[in-house]
Amino acid sequence: MFSFRVAAPLTAVLCLIALSLIATSGVGQQAQQNMLWSLLGINLVAAVTTVFLARMTINRWAESLRDYIITGKNAKNLPKEAIGVTREIRHRLRQLERERQRLCLSGPMWSSEALFRFVREHLPSEQIISISYRQPYAHKKAPDGGLTWMTPASGLVTAIEPIMKACGGTWIAVAMSEADRLAADQNGALMVPPDKPTYRLKRLWLSEEETAGFYAGFANEGLWPLATMAYVKPRFRASDWKTYQEVNQRFADAIVAEAKSDAPIVFIQDYHFALLPKLVRERLPNALIIFFWHIPWPNAEAFGILPWREEILRGLLPADIIGFHTQAPCNNFLDCVDTHIEALIDREHNSVRHGNDFSMVRPYPISIAWPDLEALSVPDIPACRKEVTESLGIAPDAKIILGVERLDYVKGIPERLRSFGIFLEKNPLWRGKVCFVQIASPSRSSIPAYADADKEVEEVVAEINKKYQTSRWKPIHLLKQNYAARELYRFYRSGDVFIVSSLSDGMNLVAKEFISARDDDRGSLILSEFTGSSRELVEAIIVNPHDEEKVADCFLRALTMSDEEQTARMKSMRERVKMNNVFAWAAQILGDAKQLHDRRQLNELLEKTGRDEKRAA
Ligand code: F6P
Repeated sequence: MFSFRVAAPLTAVLCLIALSLIATSGVGQQAQQNMLWSLLGINLVAAVTTVFLARMTINRWAESLRDYIITGKNAKNLPKEAIGVTREIRHRLRQLERERQRLCLSGPMWSSEALFRFVREHLPSEQIISISYRQPYAHKKAPDGGLTWMTPASGLVTAIEPIMKACGGTWIAVAMSEADRLAADQNGALMVPPDKPTYRLKRLWLSEEETAGFYAGFANEGLWPLATMAYVKPRFRASDWKTYQEVNQRFADAIVAEAKSDAPIVFIQDYHFALLPKLVRERLPNALIIFFWHIPWPNAEAFGILPWREEILRGLLPADIIGFHTQAPCNNFLDCVDTHIEALIDREHNSVRHGNDFSMVRPYPISIAWPDLEALSVPDIPACRKEVTESLGIAPDAKIILGVERLDYVKGIPERLRSFGIFLEKNPLWRGKVCFVQIASPSRSSIPAYADADKEVEEVVAEINKKYQTSRWKPIHLLKQNYAARELYRFYRSGDVFIVSSLSDGMNLVAKEFISARDDDRGSLILSEFTGSSRELVEAIIVNPHDEEKVADCFLRALTMSDEEQTARMKSMRERVKMNNVFAWAAQILGDAKQLHDRRQLNELLEKTGRDEKRAA
């Protein structure tokens, strides 16, 4: 650097001095000429040397500049001015990276490919281990003696399956039958989807006692009514609690056995596994643990009746992220932590510090993968309608009100059917012109409250049908069976009105599925205000399902809604659901998890540096 800066001006000054000396020396002309030629020669050598030195210096600068821009190190070879410019470049690059990431997270539309790339490029581990009670594929014996498979009725499965398809990894879930064992290898694992394998499903078999105590007992007779608050009294049996702990332990063992490193991404689903974050953290301290609670969370007072409330909270808090669908359950959860255990809560950042654990508590509204109706081989809308009306014996020009869910007391099925009865009572002209098709997939039938709900639904249907049925018209068609996606979409595309009247629902994905099915921009959606999705699908007709008279009026409103209004509402909801799809949901959670992981690493580094400095002092 010195050579370049000094050589050029020095040569020029020496030349000038030499020229003036020659001019004033008084020697002969020949001698002056010789001196000039020598001077020219010297100048030429000096110029070549200067260019050479300059190139060397520039090359050295360029190298240091590159090093400094990339690593922030090696600034000592750079001139002061270059350091300033380079800092600016580094700053701008960091800004651009942040913008790129932001864009990535809120980008035009998330797809399975984009999520796959995001996981590969940004996450600390490529191995995702997802855990849920319900498995994404269940095998059964076919009539010909072979094996066949089906997808169970579960919003959770609908949401998680596309993510696993996109990212690969392992999904650990409970097996249902001996046919499941026949389809798996000796470790209980198999690659799925069965028709296009992309990720590993590891099945665990529970004994009858385990299923009764863990699934039917503590999870579904205890936590489910406690969390959903649909006025069914929770049952808390000490024996169920013991089994719940044991089964959570079995899943923790399975996760550790599946982990390929000490820091996998462990993505735990739902209330069946509230103790897993703690159990996994003890054995894989570096794992990135994400817990998603798919159902509502009760307020602190209601939660307080749980005899093992502290154990449940302490079981969850070692998760890095505890996700809910909306802000209300996040607030309730933080209130519960505040009320029932000692922990530091940061309300501004929605986070909890409990001992060595730090968790972010955030809302992530779950969604669906926008369906490829062609790939699903779903016919066009008139064909769907024809198939449905013909199969159920409904008149081709009759209107159809549709409901689709598991037969669960929280779904408000008897309430909506009673509202339909009121509607028929109040609107005699509609009799014979509208049918209610209710799909109710059998669910948790060993639990008394579910058997009661089933009985109640049957009774209401029988009562209304008895009162209004004619030889040519049956008001309610109750279909108590499980349907594959293709068949469900056929129903969604044939309904004029779709009703979701849950008394309590974390999100409710069938509402979003209905919207995604309507590429004709038609159909009216009636949606309970007690679903998470009512926060997002604001163009729906929002109802209080307990107000049966009002819901009856909403049927009339929905059936008589003009085509223009239907289209305007539907278009807007379709755009939103398409954009806020399940890949965007996953990217948001995984993106937050990554930020947390980076912050944790930085803290560790700072702690280590602090320790080193102390030692050196
Ligand atoms: O979304 C709540 C949820 O309980 C899921 O955990 C579950 O898979 C789904 O509903 C269906 O319930 P189940 O698996 O008990 O049939």
